[in-house]
This record gives sequence, C-alpha cells and structure tokens, in this order.
Amino acid sequence: MKPRIIEEGVYWVGAVDWDRRLFDELIPLPDGTSYNAYLVDGSDKTALIDTVDPTMTNVLIRNLKLLNVKHLDYIIANHAEQDHSGALPTLLDLHPDAKVIATSKCKDLLMNLLLVPEDRIQTIEDGETISLGDKTLEFIHFPWVHWPETMLTYLREDSILFPCDLFGSHLATSDLYAIDEAVVYEAAKRYYAEIMMPFRLIIKRNLDKLNKFKINVIAPSHGPIYRKPNFILEAYRDWVYNPPKNLVVLPYLSMHGSTKVIVDHFVSALVERKVRVQQFNLSRTDIGKLAMTLVDAATVIIGTPTVLGGPHPNVLYAAHLISALRPKVMFASIIGSYGWGTTVIQQISQILSKLKVEFLEPVLVKGYPREETFKALDRLADEISERHKKHGLA
Ligand code: FEO
Repeated sequence: MKPRIIEEGVYWVGAVDWDRRLFDELIPLPDGTSYNAYLVDGSDKTALIDTVDPTMTNVLIRNLKLLNVKHLDYIIANHAEQDHSGALPTLLDLHPDAKVIATSKCKDLLMNLLLVPEDRIQTIEDGETISLGDKTLEFIHFPWVHWPETMLTYLREDSILFPCDLFGSHLATSDLYAIDEAVVYEAAKRYYAEIMMPFRLIIKRNLDKLNKFKINVIAPSHGPIYRKPNFILEAYRDWVYNPPKNLVVLPYLSMHGSTKVIVDHFVSALVERKVRVQQFNLSRTDIGKLAMTLVDAATVIIGTPTVLGGPHPNVLYAAHLISALRPKVMFASIIGSYGWGTTVIQQISQILSKLKVEFLEPVLVKGYPREETFKALDRLADEISERHKKHGLA
C-alpha cells in the first residue's frame, strides 16, 4: 500500500501484512495485521511516529521515498516491541541525524533489543513536547499497554492521538479508516482480549489521562484509524470499567464422551435459567475466540476428563491462558469425568487461584454421568444463576 494522507502534512506510511497468521508464535491472526507508521511533516522539522515490523522495512522505506522524504529529524518510538521498532536500525543508518524519541525505559529496551546506540536516543518526560514548526508533538507516558515503557503521542494542531498498540486491532484491510464498525469491533475486541486485558487495572487507572485532550482522530499502530474516536473509547470503557455480563464461558474437552454428556446437560441447565453460555471444544478451538469471550464472562467452568491422573494437557494450557489473561470473571468451577482417580480439582484451582474468583462446588463423576450427576449439575447451574442475579449481571 502506498502512503495515504490523513491531514495536511500527516501521512500513513506503514505496511499491511495480509498473510501473517501468528503473532509472538502464540496469538492467532485470522485477519492478518498491519504495522502503522505515520509521517508528520512540520514547517521546520519532520518526524516519523513508530516504524514497522523488520520483515516490512522495505515497504516503509519505499513509502518515505514516495513522499520524497530526504531527512528525518525525529523517529518517535512509542513502544520498543519489534513490530514497531524493528525497522529502526535501518532507518537510523539512512538518516544519520535523526534522533529517536522515547521514554527512559524504552531507551533501555531499544539499546538491548535492537542495539540502538545510546547517543541516538533522546528521552522524553510525561507531558513534554517537541515542536516541528507549525506542528507540536506532546508525549503522554502510558505504561503497560502492554510493555512497561509505552507512551502515546498527541499531535496538538490536528488533535490526532497516536497510541501505538493501545486501541489497535489485528486487521489487514484496504480501509484506512474504521468504516465497517462491526468488523473492526470484533478485531479490536480480540486484540484487547489477547494483548491488553492482562493490564486492565492499569489501563483503568490511566484512561482518564486522555480526558483533557481534544481527540478528533485515533491512529493506532495496528488496524484501521478511528475518525470517530468515541467508537473505540466507549468500547474500551465497557471492557475495562463495566462489570462482567450474565455469561458463562465453558472451555472443555472430552476423550470418550462422558465429559461431553456432562457439558451438554450443564449448558441446557444454564440456558433454562436464562444464563448465556459460550462453550469451546479445546481440541479444535480458536484461543482468540475464547479470550474474547473472557472479556465479558462472569463465570468460567472448565470441563475436563482425567488423563494420567490430571487434566488433559489442552485443558491445562487453557487454564494457564485464562489465568494469564486476568479477565474480570467472578466465579469458577470444574465439571468432568475420571476413571480411577484424579487431581484435576487441585491442579486447576491452583492455576486459577491468581484470579481471585469464588470457587463453586465442582461436579466430577467416576465414569459415565448418572441421575445424581445431573442433579449436581442442576445445583451448580442454580448457584451460578443466583450469583449472577445477586450481582445484577445482565
Ligand atoms: Fe504491536 Fe506490542 O507490539
């Protein structure tokens, strides 16, 4: 994609990665992604805001050439992760007078991760500004979105916020702007769930910092740009501030069918009690979808058989993931079947203990479920329904 103008003197110069399907060798990218870099060409000086993934360095360099950029004064590094900083070493070679602008923590990371020479980096304090002549960049320290060194950049004269990863979406598209809001909402929610949700409480503390800024446009470093900033700001307020919803997420796995019978009965019991459920078969699920459901779920119920004395390995993986993502779930329990002995309760409750949830009485059966198993499942469904109602979850 060639450069695209946003405002006079402000250009998108990034790269769209249509084919990427995995990030950090962990996160599925069903819709690809983009690495958005922005050129701000002031009357006196020129700044590049973030770079691109190292695999796309040639695209960024070509885009700067197409805009006839011969000299860069500043390269703003909002974030040190390589999908935004990876092209820095090459750009610094091409622009020997350019200074990297970064927080002090970012400076340390750039020096260690990318071996950027110390004398090429100028550190910036929270609220500090840099004048490009007729355009002014203001820097907003906003740590832990999602690394410790992160900051946002605000272009005062055009009221554009460049928040790097924050508010982004892994979405490869030819749309410069978020036109199809349903598609962008889905991608942004998946992105929030996978990347930002573990830092929800820190985001909650810092989000108000943005209230004093007039923001006309939010231009993140992944996915389309928001010309209606409230679209993504309101979504974040819901995900970050609002209580969870009347929703159970049920990741499960069944080896010989017993746990599946238990899950099927339990899902029906919850639906009869007007509790919404989203179940995920862990032998084939997209973990990004599971993460998205965790944004809203009030309760997590893990369904597992017992293999080699403990939970199935896929269930262990899902439990670790749920614990690491730190969703705002309030209740948890375990259902499933075993053959001759099991440690699933001890193992799963230990993994989920970081979440500070209330553990409800698990329902585990030796072998195939029977009448008393179904009654115990109904009681668990009652307890969940009552607790959701007591907390006013809609
Ligand atoms: Fe898009 Fe944290 O990098």
